[in-house]
Amino acid sequence: MARFMIFLVLSAAVAGSREAALAASAETLQSSVAYSEESVRAGRKTYLRLCQYCHGQDGRAQANPDFDAPNLRRPQEWRNGTSDERLFLSIRDGVGHEMPPFRAQLEDEQIWRIVHFLRSIGPRERRGRAGE
Ligand code: HEC
Repeated sequence: MARFMIFLVLSAAVAGSREAALAASAETLQSSVAYSEESVRAGRKTYLRLCQYCHGQDGRAQANPDFDAPNLRRPQEWRNGTSDERLFLSIRDGVGHEMPPFRAQLEDEQIWRIVHFLRSIGPRERRGRAGE
């Protein structure tokens, strides 16, 4: 039991420091691309090429036997933050064990354009740069 408690405390500390590191790196990020119809269109193209297999053509992530990917139209269900910067980090660095990092395949600019595309299909009040 004591061992289990130590394990719990340690995991909480690791999760806490991961969250702190994420928050710190999200703060220093600055989008290098302005939100525009053009950036949304380009982001959509890359999205369809790299993300739709798991997240669905329209972001809704219809049943996929291999991956339990989240619905990218419902920020209220996301677990890793909803700001543009957090989305950028999820895409660049990957999420958990199932979502691969894309930093080797995508330039930062391409990742920001995907973030813009995700904004464009999300809730209306979050279109454009929400900057939460
Ligand atoms: C191999 C399947 C797969 C591919 C390809 C994939 N994802 Fe994911 N994605 C997932 C899974 C599964 C999760 C949930 C992981 C978790 O929470 O452990 C996820 C999580 C995310 C999240 C975080 C949501 C949250 O809960 O905070 C975002 C944002 C995201 N994906 C966007 C993308 C984008 C954009 C692309 C394309 C560049 C992409 N994904 C490609 C499977 C995938």
